[in-house]
Amino acid sequence: MVPDFKSRCPFMVPLLQPQRRKLLIGGICVVLLVVGVILLTYFLCSGEGEFVLDRTPLFAGRNNLPESLMALWAGNLSLLNLNSDLREIYQNDSCFWCNTDLPRLRRGKVKSQFWIANAGCSNDSQIYSTLKQLDIIDRLIKKYPSDFQLIRQSKDLKEAHKNNKLGSIIAVDGGQSLMDSNAVLRIFYNLGVRAVALGNNCTLESGNTTMIKSLEMEMVVHEMNTLGMMIDIQGLSKITQKNILNISSAPVMISHTAAAALYKYEGNTDDEIMELIKSRDGLLMITFDALNLGKQDNVTVSDVTKHINYVVDKIGFDNIAIGGNYDSYGEKPAGLEDVSDFPLLFKELKAENGSKWTAGNLDKLAGTNFERFFKNVENVRNYTLILENE
Ligand SMILES: *[C@@H]1O[C@H](CO)[C@@H](O)[C@H](O)[C@H]1NC(C)=O
Ligand SMILES: *[C@@H]1O[C@H](CO)[C@@H](O)[C@H](O)[C@H]1NC(C)=O
Ligand SMILES: *[C@@H]1O[C@H](CO)[C@@H](O)[C@H](O)[C@H]1NC(C)=O
Ligand SMILES: *[C@@H]1O[C@H](CO)[C@@H](O)[C@H](O)[C@H]1NC(C)=O
Ligand SMILES: *[C@@H]1O[C@H](CO)[C@@H](O)[C@H](O)[C@H]1NC(C)=O
Ligand SMILES: *[C@@H]1O[C@H](CO)[C@@H](O)[C@H](O)[C@H]1NC(C)=O
Ligand SMILES: *[C@@H]1O[C@H](CO)[C@@H](O)[C@H](O)[C@H]1NC(C)=O
Ligand SMILES: *[C@@H]1O[C@H](CO)[C@@H](O)[C@H](O)[C@H]1NC(C)=O
Ligand SMILES: *[C@@H]1O[C@H](CO)[C@@H](O)[C@H](O)[C@H]1NC(C)=O
Repeated sequence: MVPDFKSRCPFMVPLLQPQRRKLLIGGICVVLLVVGVILLTYFLCSGEGEFVLDRTPLFAGRNNLPESLMALWAGNLSLLNLNSDLREIYQNDSCFWCNTDLPRLRRGKVKSQFWIANAGCSNDSQIYSTLKQLDIIDRLIKKYPSDFQLIRQSKDLKEAHKNNKLGSIIAVDGGQSLMDSNAVLRIFYNLGVRAVALGNNCTLESGNTTMIKSLEMEMVVHEMNTLGMMIDIQGLSKITQKNILNISSAPVMISHTAAAALYKYEGNTDDEIMELIKSRDGLLMITFDALNLGKQDNVTVSDVTKHINYVVDKIGFDNIAIGGNYDSYGEKPAGLEDVSDFPLLFKELKAENGSKWTAGNLDKLAGTNFERFFKNVENVRNYTLILENE
């Protein structure tokens, strides 16, 4: 006997008709499509599905290429072809000075960085060495105008990125090159310098001294706040670091450091200073210098992630950035030998702990923390100018 569908399930009968079945299948397809689009939109907008460095412009920290070019070619750029692999030109695979060229910067997805002008140590080279490297940076940017753009203010970062150029922020390393003079500081600013490391690594107690006496230091810090220059307290004694953190109206940074709690080494930062950096919304930038990361010979990318994870576990995700420090003395971790290797670090962090390193947290490390820091330093300057003009 044929069951009485109509009485038992009144909706079944119409569905059995081909016309209605098509409608139903069509309806299900529409619903699935809508759900799919919603999920995809969520996925893309949250960034979870996209590689962080394709989404957020990477600020890659310090790069000492100007000093390399001094050391290798006495700053003669007519010999330089930055579009070639510099390791081949130097014919030295293990060259400390050969970490950087344009093809590798592009592979590394580097979108902005500090070009460092390092101060000399002998009395007559302190400022001369800095000026020679500032001149190299200037000529480098002019030699490759379609690749580099000088960054004068925080908003230039977006502009450079839009122009598909590497945002070039000039930083001076070595308070000794200020010669105890705010005049020198102001001239540096006019030459485009936007960050200065106040420490002096020339003395025996390197990483533990400042040539600036406390009163002079107060004047320098105040002048840097007024000019809108980023203050780098890398390598200063803890007492001086605390002083500057207390005096400065703008947040300050430590430009190439690691966690002292994991590995005690000159220039590494202890928990107390980390907390202070956080409380002032400053920036702790993790170096890739193997010497800072661990005592074993074979430092690898996972040593870098250990230090980064230590810092974010201690002070959260808002006050950390990449320190890099390529083209400096000393080894880099295996896997992070040159500027083309930044993507590996971000992949490693996500692979080690994807729920911790969400898209938002990776963005912070890659660049949004640095951009906010730079803006805040500039805001203090702008605010000071408004007060002075009232
Ligand atoms: C730079 O190098 C080029 C090519 O070797 C040479 O012709 C030029 O004289 C050098 N310039 C200086 C200032 O040494
Ligand atoms: C290669 O570079 C390393 C590090 O800069 C240096 O120690 C070594 O002497 C160089 N080798 C050659 C053959 O130039
Ligand atoms: C360097 O300058 C300091 C302070 O001006 C002075 O005491 C010292 O003797 C100088 N050293 C040399 C080698 O000239
Ligand atoms: C100080 O640091 C700069 C940059 O790393 C380096 O060029 C210089 O040789 C250092 N000086 C000393 C005495 O270590
Ligand atoms: C400087 O370093 C020495 C050890 O090298 C240490 O005894 C001293 O306390 C440090 N001074 C400051 C002010 O941190
Ligand atoms: C911070 O500076 C204020 C003055 O602006 C001073 O009263 C205070 O003692 C300083 N604190 C530290 C820890 O140096
Ligand atoms: C470092 O690596 C080299 C070769 O990759 C190996 O010979 C050496 O034993 C390693 N050293 C340590 C301390 O693991
Ligand atoms: C990932 O990070 C979270 C938050 O820090 C932590 O609770 C969890 O244990 C970590 N997972 C692994 C596998 O390390
Ligand atoms: C600071 O002021 C200048 C103009 O005087 C402006 O171009 C810049 O964007 C301002 N910076 C911030 C962070 O608002």
